[in-house]
Amino acid sequence: CGIVGVIGNNRAKDILLTGLEKLEYRGYDSAGIMVADENEAYLVKTPGRVSELKALANSVPEGHLGIGHTRWATHGVPNTENAHPHQSTSGKFCLVHNGVIENYLDLKNDYLSEIALKGDTDSEIVVELVDYFYRKGKSSFEAFEAALDKVEGSYAIALMDVEDSQTLYLAKNKSPLLIGIGKECHYVGSDAMAMINETNEFVEIKDGERIILTSDNMTIFDKESNELSRDSFVADIDATDTEKGLYPHYMLKEIDEQPSVMRTLISEYLTEDGLSTIDKKIVSHMASSDRIYIVGCGTSWHAGLVGKKIIEELTNIPVEVHLASEMGYDMPLLSEKPFFIFLTQSGETADSRQVLVKVNELNLPSLTITNVKGSTLSREATYTLLLHAGPEIAVASTKAYTSQIAVMTYLAQAIGLEKGIELAKSIDLAHEMAIIASVMDSMISEKELISGLSESFLGTTRNAFFIGRGLDYAVSMEAALKLKEISYIQAEGFAAGELKHGTIALIEEGTPVIAIITDKHTASHTRGNAKEVESRGANVLTISLEDVAHDGDELVLLPVHNLLTPLVSVVPLQLLAYYASLQRGLDVDKPRNLAKSVTVE
Ligand code: G6P
Repeated sequence: CGIVGVIGNNRAKDILLTGLEKLEYRGYDSAGIMVADENEAYLVKTPGRVSELKALANSVPEGHLGIGHTRWATHGVPNTENAHPHQSTSGKFCLVHNGVIENYLDLKNDYLSEIALKGDTDSEIVVELVDYFYRKGKSSFEAFEAALDKVEGSYAIALMDVEDSQTLYLAKNKSPLLIGIGKECHYVGSDAMAMINETNEFVEIKDGERIILTSDNMTIFDKESNELSRDSFVADIDATDTEKGLYPHYMLKEIDEQPSVMRTLISEYLTEDGLSTIDKKIVSHMASSDRIYIVGCGTSWHAGLVGKKIIEELTNIPVEVHLASEMGYDMPLLSEKPFFIFLTQSGETADSRQVLVKVNELNLPSLTITNVKGSTLSREATYTLLLHAGPEIAVASTKAYTSQIAVMTYLAQAIGLEKGIELAKSIDLAHEMAIIASVMDSMISEKELISGLSESFLGTTRNAFFIGRGLDYAVSMEAALKLKEISYIQAEGFAAGELKHGTIALIEEGTPVIAIITDKHTASHTRGNAKEVESRGANVLTISLEDVAHDGDELVLLPVHNLLTPLVSVVPLQLLAYYASLQRGLDVDKPRNLAKSVTVE
């Protein structure tokens, strides 16, 4: 979910709605705003997108104070009652919340048994709890503090006292929250992009803090009510980067941007003489570790599977890749000198962050590789490296995947050189990455061919399988994820050799099987597996590189370095998913049930 707020600016409604549009990547099941002027407060909320909220908010005045929310449902279905803001039954308080309140049932039973709750959300409990303490005689802020003292879980909260149009109350624990500094006004948002049209100066809020915000003042308190001081920072992000331009969808724009991102990364990570620009401290810290643990979710985890192979080959350091949602609850036995890499496009994923919190508690070193400068995981890790991919808006991740792999390659080579590893010395990365950018370009110009393949191979199918060995297996999993996310075709990626040990039972007449074959050493085996399914009725589509291609392969890419094949083989597979979604008439950029960044565990 995403939250926004504004105080002291008389375009409050407009600022909230624009901010919410920018935050839709965090969820888009329902949305709502409360806006106040000197006399009255107006509450509008609805299931559906921010665009639907906008239409409903037409008659609401601009106001000078307000809060807003876009939701990704956890507790309670997406309907109007469960949409935020939540107003207490007395009408006195109204809040928006991002996170999960773990003890909401206890709170409900202990304090609110008399209250007729309107919906099923954990968030509504918090606003009623504030109201409860207010009715016990506390001031609005004291009531807010008292409620927060009882609450367990994750939250970023913006609270309005409906009878006081000069104050906003905020609190944060484990969910992100930033304050934007304006001219005699303040903004609030889950991230900087939500406020970037208004300001680029921000104040970071830390876990456990509570804030009283007026148009010209900000008072930050810790849990013990001690007042804290905090400097602001200026973020260098560009609002125009998030525009779609002439593209019909962000996903297509982002796929197309990959060659240029690859070229940008060459100059970001290498000097003209081909030397690494990565901070020596990171390189030597990692070179002295005895094991690297890569942590991520979804597409980032898939990039990690590729990164493992590249880092192991170039550095000789063993690498483990972990799903954040598993590792948070089940930390493996760690080596003596572990080093953690957090892969996260957004830098906000709650599952990954909970692992980082544990890693920090253990006082272990970490590096966040992210697309968002100043994001939570970047701020909290020991080191950060940026993807320089520009904002990724489509829910299905594309350019973040390839840029994560590329950044890990630059990093691995720098570590390998520090350790004197021969393979690291022998690769001319600027050259290899330039080749990759042009092979990507050539695939991107094959849109018509790929759209046709999507139609003929995926047509009206309900399921599809992707197979490959080694790095091609890792790409198979990412290709399957892309397809299922946006076309709703049930898709799985398999190790080619493993298919015959069970999954082959699912092959029927016409089942699409996409074989990815880029490695000389295993090509004949994967081709054998493709034959096994073909003879059982499967419709096989083969994607290969020129040096392993056979007559009849549907897509053949120009050769690239054998460690870096995923950077190019994934591109036609991203396009295949894009066209499958388009041909089914689905919402490519905002598929059902998903969010770009999942900010709850
Ligand atoms: C969500 C998105 C995925 C993404 C994953 C990890 O589930 O829908 O596309 O891969 O989060 O996101 P991150 O920002 O941590 O890379």
